[in-house]
Amino acid sequence: MSGERGAGALPRGELRGRDVVSAKDLTREDAELIFEVAREVEADPGRFSGVLRGKRVALLFVEPSTRTFSSFYIAARRLGGDVLPLNEPEMTSLSKGETLYDTLKMLEGYGVDCVVMRHPARGAARFAADVISAPVINAGSGSQEHPTQALLDVYTILKKRGKVDGTSLGMLGDLKFSRTVPSLAYLISNFDGVELTFIAPPALQVRQEVELFLRERAVSYTKVTRQQEIPDAVSRLDVLYVTRLQKERFPDPSEYERLKGSYRVDMGMLRHARPTLGVMHPLPRVDELDAEIDRTPHAWYFDQASYGLPVRMALYALVLGDAG
Ligand code: NCD
Repeated sequence: MSGERGAGALPRGELRGRDVVSAKDLTREDAELIFEVAREVEADPGRFSGVLRGKRVALLFVEPSTRTFSSFYIAARRLGGDVLPLNEPEMTSLSKGETLYDTLKMLEGYGVDCVVMRHPARGAARFAADVISAPVINAGSGSQEHPTQALLDVYTILKKRGKVDGTSLGMLGDLKFSRTVPSLAYLISNFDGVELTFIAPPALQVRQEVELFLRERAVSYTKVTRQQEIPDAVSRLDVLYVTRLQKERFPDPSEYERLKGSYRVDMGMLRHARPTLGVMHPLPRVDELDAEIDRTPHAWYFDQASYGLPVRMALYALVLGDAG
């Protein structure tokens, strides 16, 4: 890729004009291209300052967000783009009963060049991509997927380990309602020799759709459901990816009350871990990840969050950037 570009030329590639709805649609080449540009952004952000000049990005967030919204916002501004932030659904006509279809059509009528959307419904991003011709970037579709989080998660592994191939990745917590877990599993399955371990009580185990996908791709995975087996499972990992119980997605609040606190990652759980084990978390954390880990070299999660910015700048540049 870099060989094709002259000094100062802007990124081109297969992602131009594409929707980013599912991590299943991203190939290894797509991911590596995004990572290459993300590294360039980190090395020389100034070079990218005009990539989105004259472009309008709408951020339509119908669910709470801190990191994803802020990083998509800052990323677009740093690239010189205009941002239309629609992140207070109660202040939009959606709260008056306007359909998502009409809201999207209106944004299209205003000439937005890209819609970044977070929505509580599975399938919402795919629907939006079908409704409007401008590229749609899925910033979270219910419990279904969160493909750009997966991009920054895999970028974190690449930066910290130096490679993604051969990663032994454990995912722990609410694997049932999490949307970051499926997207990460899909994206990392593009890499060679990856081994996945899903650590959760049976009621929170990874969804069947994820297992089916991994079987189709012949990705090796195991499930750990018993508390006493966790330290041993953790001892074999390169990365432990922790998730919050997705309280808002539990159909039955008493089920949340029953399961909360069923695991907590602390130094005790890591007692047999490799010294190089990286602990990741998409954040926000509630009480599933002890703050004592923050002070150890295991804590990758704040760097992980910070990589959201270069990765999202790279994604915008590739999907929307003017190839000059
Ligand atoms: C995650 C999300 O929204 O799915 N957060 C994020 O985007 N970094 C995880 C969560 O809310 O637990």
